[in-house]
Formats: sequence, C-alpha cells, structure tokens
Amino acid sequence: MTSKKALEILKGIMVDGKDIVSAGFLGNLTVEGEKVEVVLSIPEEKEDIALELQDKIRDALLSGGFKEVVIKTKVKQSLPPPKVQTKGPFKTIDLPNVKNIMAVASGKGGVGKSTFAVNLAYAFKRLGYKVGIFDSDIYGPSVSVMLNLKDERMRVDPEGRKFIPPEKYGVKVVSFGLLVDEYTPVLWRGAMFHKAYEELMSQTDWGELDFLVVDLPPGTGDAQMSLAQLFDVKGVLVVTTPQLVAIADVLRAIKGFEKLEVRVLGIIENMAYFVCPDTGKKYYIFGQGGGKKLSDLTGIPLLGSVPIDEYISSSGDNGIPVVEAFPDVPSSRAIMKIAESILKML
Ligand SMILES: Nc1ncnc2c1ncn2[C@@H]1O[C@H](COP(=O)(O)OP(=O)(O)OP(=O)(O)O)[C@@H](O)[C@H]1O
Ligand SMILES: [Mg+2]
Repeated sequence: MTSKKALEILKGIMVDGKDIVSAGFLGNLTVEGEKVEVVLSIPEEKEDIALELQDKIRDALLSGGFKEVVIKTKVKQSLPPPKVQTKGPFKTIDLPNVKNIMAVASGKGGVGKSTFAVNLAYAFKRLGYKVGIFDSDIYGPSVSVMLNLKDERMRVDPEGRKFIPPEKYGVKVVSFGLLVDEYTPVLWRGAMFHKAYEELMSQTDWGELDFLVVDLPPGTGDAQMSLAQLFDVKGVLVVTTPQLVAIADVLRAIKGFEKLEVRVLGIIENMAYFVCPDTGKKYYIFGQGGGKKLSDLTGIPLLGSVPIDEYISSSGDNGIPVVEAFPDVPSSRAIMKIAESILKML
C-alpha cells in the first residue's frame, strides 16, 4: 500500500462539495505497509462534523485495502487552510504571492552558500525584482549575521496570524536566527522541524515576491527534505569551490536533489581565483577546474565563477552585502552576471 493510494481514497471523500484533500482537511498522511495514519486538521467552524468524517475516512480506507487505520484530529483555529496540491506522495503548500523559490545548496560546509545566497537576493533586487530571503539553517543561521540583523526579531501581526519579517535594504529576511535566541540550543528534528519549517514559510507575510532565495545548510538533511517536500521549488543553485576534493560531496548533494525531484539549475564556483591588485594577475589558490569538472560530470551548466575578494568577506562582517555596498568590484559583477543568467534560464 502507498501514500498515493491512500491519497486517492481520501480525495473521494467530500465535505460541502469539495474533497477533503483540496479543502485542506488533511494535515498529514503516513503509510507503513498496510497501516495508514491520517492527521486531520479541521477548522473550528467544522468541528461538529469531525466524528462523522473520521468514520467515513476509516470505512473508505478499510474497504480500499488498508488493514489498520489510525486517525488523529486537530482542530485548527480559524487560520485559512493552506492550499494543498499533491507532489508524488507528498503535499505541497502553495505560497500564492511568491513566484519563484530558488534554493542555494552545497554538499560541503564553508564554501560560501550563505554569502552567495544573500548576494544573489540583492542582485535580483538590483535588477528590479521583489525579493525575500529565507535562512533555513537552524544550527548556524548566518544570514541574519551577514545582514546585521542579530538583534532583530520577527514580529507577529496584531491578530497573531502572520509573521512580519524585518526588511533590509529592500529585501525581506526570515531566519530561524530571528526566531530563537542565538545561544539557545535548538533540538528540533524530523517532524518537529518539518512543522516549524512549514509554519515559518507559509505564515510569513512575504507580500508579493518575484524571488524567494532559500539558504540551505550543508549536505542533505531536514532542511533540504522539508523544502523539497513542502514547496514547489523552481530550482537549486549548487555552490562549490574549485578543489577537486570538493566534488564528491557536491555530487552527492546533486543526486539528493534529483531524488527529491528538484531541478538543479546550475553550478557556481566560489573562491575560484584571486586577482592580485598590484599586478592584475590571476592566482588559482584553491586549484582550478572543479566547477567545470562537476558540470561535465553532471551536464548541469556552470553559471559562473566568483573570485576570492576581501570586499566579500568584509561586507559579510559589516552587514552590507557586497553587491549592495560595492556593485562594481569584480565579485559583485560576477554575481550580477550569474543572476542575469538565471533569469535567462527561467
Ligand atoms: N568569494 C569569497 N571571497 C572571500 N571570502 C568569501 C567568499 N565567499 C565566502 N567567503 C567567506 O567565507 C566564509 C564562509 O562563507 P559562508 O558562511 O557563506 O559559507 P557557507 O557555505 O554558507 O558555510 P556553512 O556551511 O557554515 O553554512 C565567510 O566568512 C565569507 O565571508
Ligand atoms: Mg551557510
């Protein structure tokens, strides 16, 4: 038995002329062999039909071939139900005001994902788009540090329905770092993280956005899974450094996204070379050719190379992204060019 099968059965159950899945009554669905667990999420005003609905669901699943049916019901306080679609066995949540979700990832730590994600967001903004950035690294949120928002917190609107993100130089910023205290150890895992991720993304007042850039932690863990399973991601940009040793890790990350059915749009080689300011000569400090090799191996285009640049690291420390503070230095120009290639691909 599969979740798809269970989902099909649930879609046959109607309330007020709509099936319960499209109506947003399905909170979660887990299938293990012949056992199915359904979490119903029922709006307050429909609480009276909960028992009747549970009976209908149980009967339908049992006659559909499941041997054991567990139903849990949560009553939802009048928040509008998110629009639910199906994506394989998963549901995806529609963010109606966000046109493109773009994620920045890598198999490796410290290659400059967060730096690139932040600067890509500002590059899109400079090109005239409305942009938000979501830092989904709960163990080491760095976007809020890079934008000097450490002391800010997300506000909750008066009716308590939405998070209001702080805005920095015209870009909305959401981060686990703006929710929890920097020094509080956060031990969310698996389902709890998934839920927190869903709430933070879907209950934030993003306004109208052309691009939501999501900074991911290294590797393929909870944040990658939650993002790919819950939302419709337009594409992932994979950051690597030029060392050939970095390739194996990055390849693993690319394979991970393929499994999650998310398209990898391109590869970005960061810290690709250093241009000596005195002589203008290029030095390939971390080796050469890693990005190209990765592109040849995977068929995914190399979208550009960003040089090692002291403006990048000092901007990160000063709280103003290099693209915003120094748009004409070589690293900013490289990132602007990458942003333009991404626009062409879309
Ligand atoms: N092109 C560059 N030139 C100079 N410094 C850079 C460059 N790219 C990143 N850095 C610096 O390298 C450090 C690591 O960058 P960053 O935090 O963006 O990496 P990350 O991949 O997000 O790390 P993590 O895996 O911890 O999330 C930062 O101090 C950043 O300023
Ligand atoms: Mg990072």
